[in-house]
Amino acid sequence: MRGIETAYDDYEGRGAPVVLLHGFPFNRSMWREQAASLAPRHRVVTPDLRGHGETTVTDEPATMEEMADDLAALLDELGIERAVVAGLSMGGYVALAFCRKYPERVSGLVLADTRATPDNEDGKRTREETARRALEEGMGPIADAMMPKLLAPATLERSPRTVARVREMILGTEPRGAASALRGMALRRDQTDLLPRLQAPALVLVGSEDSLTPPSDAEAMHNLIPDSRLVVLDGAAHVSNLERAEEFNLAVREFLDGLGVLEY
Ligand code: MLT
Repeated sequence: MRGIETAYDDYEGRGAPVVLLHGFPFNRSMWREQAASLAPRHRVVTPDLRGHGETTVTDEPATMEEMADDLAALLDELGIERAVVAGLSMGGYVALAFCRKYPERVSGLVLADTRATPDNEDGKRTREETARRALEEGMGPIADAMMPKLLAPATLERSPRTVARVREMILGTEPRGAASALRGMALRRDQTDLLPRLQAPALVLVGSEDSLTPPSDAEAMHNLIPDSRLVVLDGAAHVSNLERAEEFNLAVREFLDGLGVLEY
């Protein structure tokens, strides 16, 4: 497929399909709790995005548009015409790129701990430095630098299993894959103008302590999307689906129930 093999899990529930797109530099295993919660009523598909998990690593920048095209090809392969597309952080960037390219294929949108705006010049420089560091030194220093930003202090102190799981995902990512995603994220366009034109209903989720994509980014998206609901997850930081899995799942389930798209 498109010169790459996309690894994915397909939890074959009977209802409308839901695709879950992971953040950087994670993989599809981050969605285990969400898949378990949603699969009885939905067909849940969790791909590893290009360069992550078990999906092929490519060296050129992995743009959000390219990852959106990878998703479209995967949905074609699975015979899925329309889906609810949910993305956390980088997964949200990909979800927005997918909405712009394939609006007719989106029956609902979940944007978790993400933003519509692009990187500024400082941000782009940091991405390039991080990409080089990953290539030269591996993922250890990237994990050390990211962990305190990804998880809330209370999670870091009291949830050793979540901490270990996030660290393990980062360390399991190929440095080449991480570098190509960082360079792709640096190239991403501003999606703000897309938000008022979104036809599909949206759920915007954010951890109250997310400093990477703070609640103000979530509110800004929520205010621009015509049919949108905002849920702030108290005490979570950036990886809110793991830090507040039950509340996250409840918000997504309620959103899906409200869509009335159980048939496909
Ligand atoms: C992510 O969690 O996907 C990243 O923090 C996104 C980013 O670096 O912009």
